[in-house]
Amino acid sequence: MVAKFKGFFITVEGCEGCGKSTQSRLLKKYLENKGFKVVLTREPGGSTVAEQVRNILLNPKLKIAPLCELMLYESARVQHIEDIVKPNLAKGCVVICDRFTDSTIAYQGYGRKIDIKTIEKLNNIATLGINPDLTIYLDIDPKIGIVRAKAKKCFNNGDRIERENIKFHNDVRRGFLALAKKYPKRIKTIKTEPTVKDTRILINAEIEKFLSKRKKNV
Ligand SMILES: Nc1ncnc2c1ncn2[C@@H]1O[C@H](COP(=O)(O)OP(=O)(O)O)[C@@H](O)[C@H]1O
Ligand SMILES: [Mg+2]
Repeated sequence: MVAKFKGFFITVEGCEGCGKSTQSRLLKKYLENKGFKVVLTREPGGSTVAEQVRNILLNPKLKIAPLCELMLYESARVQHIEDIVKPNLAKGCVVICDRFTDSTIAYQGYGRKIDIKTIEKLNNIATLGINPDLTIYLDIDPKIGIVRAKAKKCFNNGDRIERENIKFHNDVRRGFLALAKKYPKRIKTIKTEPTVKDTRILINAEIEKFLSKRKKNV
């Protein structure tokens, strides 16, 4: 991440139902108890304009071409970075983002089969030079993740992406695993344990490692 910021940027990634939203909320509390100011946000969305783009992206009634989908994710990202991520990092906050650029590579690259280099280029443009300091990747077998996601009250029949078939979700997972292998310093893989609490403990251990390294480097 760009050193000029006092705050730091954590992203939480993984397939549907792996526990991103649950664990992001718990992580926010954990860091607040340590005295950090924390902003929790999400992609796609997180700011007024970007949330409107999210509504388009997740609307199951719409048929969206893969390249259009990619551009929508990236355009929402630009606005979200401008409105939320950048100003809060500049204020010295910790920003936790539920999904970010790795999801774009996993879903639009490995899932929709768009050329990865093209996505990397667009990610670089859209992030305006802001990259995560730490990424927590919650690994789950999509079969289990989808069952968990379906059990949520708000699921209905799922959003446009959740409705994709199991092969798509397995491809997405392969994407995340490939990214974790490629960027082992930034991306920490957490096998999602049977309970929320077990997963939380594993995440907190990674956070502690990250914080102590950061202290040494300051
Ligand atoms: N480790 C876990 N074990 C069992 N259920 C979980 C676990 N983590 C999350 N859940 C449940 O699974 C559902 C999906 O979790 P959520 O955090 O919304 O996932 P995501 O945001 O990754 O889609 C929620 O109902 C949540 O309570
Ligand atoms: Mg979620």
